[in-house]
Amino acid sequence: MQGERSAGDEQWSSRTGFVLAAVGAAVGLGNVWRFSAVAGTNGGGAYVLPYLVAAFVLAAPLLVLEFAVGRAYRTDVVGAFRAVRPWLAPAGWAAVGAVFVLLSYYLVLTGWVLAFALAALLGREFTFVAFTAGWAPVGYFLAAAAVVAVVVSLGVRDGIERLSKLAIPIVFLVLVGLGAFAFTLPGAREGLTFLFAPRTDALADPGVWVAALGQVFFSLSVGQGVMLTYGAYLPDEVDLRRSAVVITVADVAVALVAGVAIFPVVFSFGLEPSAGTALAFETLPTAFAAMPGGRFVAVAFFSLLFLAAVTSAVSLLEVGVSTATGNTRLSRRAATAALSVGMVVLGLPSALSYSAVDLRLGGVPVLDALDGSVGTFALPFTALLTVLAFVWLTEPAIVRERLGGGSIVPLLRYAVPIVLGATTTYRLVTAGR
Ligand code: PHE
Repeated sequence: MQGERSAGDEQWSSRTGFVLAAVGAAVGLGNVWRFSAVAGTNGGGAYVLPYLVAAFVLAAPLLVLEFAVGRAYRTDVVGAFRAVRPWLAPAGWAAVGAVFVLLSYYLVLTGWVLAFALAALLGREFTFVAFTAGWAPVGYFLAAAAVVAVVVSLGVRDGIERLSKLAIPIVFLVLVGLGAFAFTLPGAREGLTFLFAPRTDALADPGVWVAALGQVFFSLSVGQGVMLTYGAYLPDEVDLRRSAVVITVADVAVALVAGVAIFPVVFSFGLEPSAGTALAFETLPTAFAAMPGGRFVAVAFFSLLFLAAVTSAVSLLEVGVSTATGNTRLSRRAATAALSVGMVVLGLPSALSYSAVDLRLGGVPVLDALDGSVGTFALPFTALLTVLAFVWLTEPAIVRERLGGGSIVPLLRYAVPIVLGATTTYRLVTAGR
């Protein structure tokens, strides 16, 4: 690389490079671990239809908005909010802060995945309980943080885009292979019925819709400034709507194929589909250990999950790095180094919460406390701020020009904020139950 570049100089090399990077940001632990956990606890097939509706009707338009705003201002999240109204800068900082907290515990989970992958590769006996009883989770957290820091310090094109071009095709191929393998299992029919048989009665349950909506926003990484940041590196000629559709389809497809790979295993081994978070980290490894060729399946599953997690964590760190280089005189490398120290310090309590220390906050592990607060509530909140700033407080003519007009404008102006407001209220009201 020749010297340092400023954030404004960087660009994706092509539409494909951009789409793969954005798919990399979207496809992560959320598609595999969180999707199957949420689907499992919300009645499987009852949840898939609301999930698809939320993805294409609400999240995809927001994706277009973030890309369009990023490309229009060609700056970081804080700069974009400030460009609309100077007093909106704190909204940008709020998004950056939320992303940073999310990153800090996301790296802990990424570290777990790395540990599982390595243990399977080396054929070592490995259980989640034994793993988290020692100090190893802290070491794997630091390793995951180091990988992410190196990629981001290499830059948008030479780091993020290059990694995504390599990792995303592998993720898809391995996942399709695992999905096909799942069809050979005795519980395949039962698993697929659980995931896909529609249950109209459950459509009347608002809890299912709220869960689907939260999952879709998390899964597509929208409303956090991640996609806005990636939009700032977009070449002018890229068609945003088409890209958004491709990214949404890819993200949804990965989640569904992951479900196709996971639920037959769950039913073949008599596991509990509603195990929640424990599904990917406790029940699945047990099943892998028991099935013929299971070690190979475990290596494939956890390696693809690690690649998917790293490309997402990279996007989260890039939000901070672009904001730092855009608002200070720090170079990309210096900003990455400084923020990496910050993310390690911030993530340490989460890493320790599932280790020998068992650090807790209000009775729950710190990691769960952060995911339940920031992960659950910050996302709809910053998504609302995004709509407020870039749809409500921006000239209607400019909004139409950026988004290309049509039904996407009223969807963003009315449907998205109403639904986000309603789901947040529902969550707050039912939180204590
Ligand atoms: N979408 C990522 C996943 O599915 C997580 C993420 C959420 C990344 C929000 C960035 C912003 O794992």
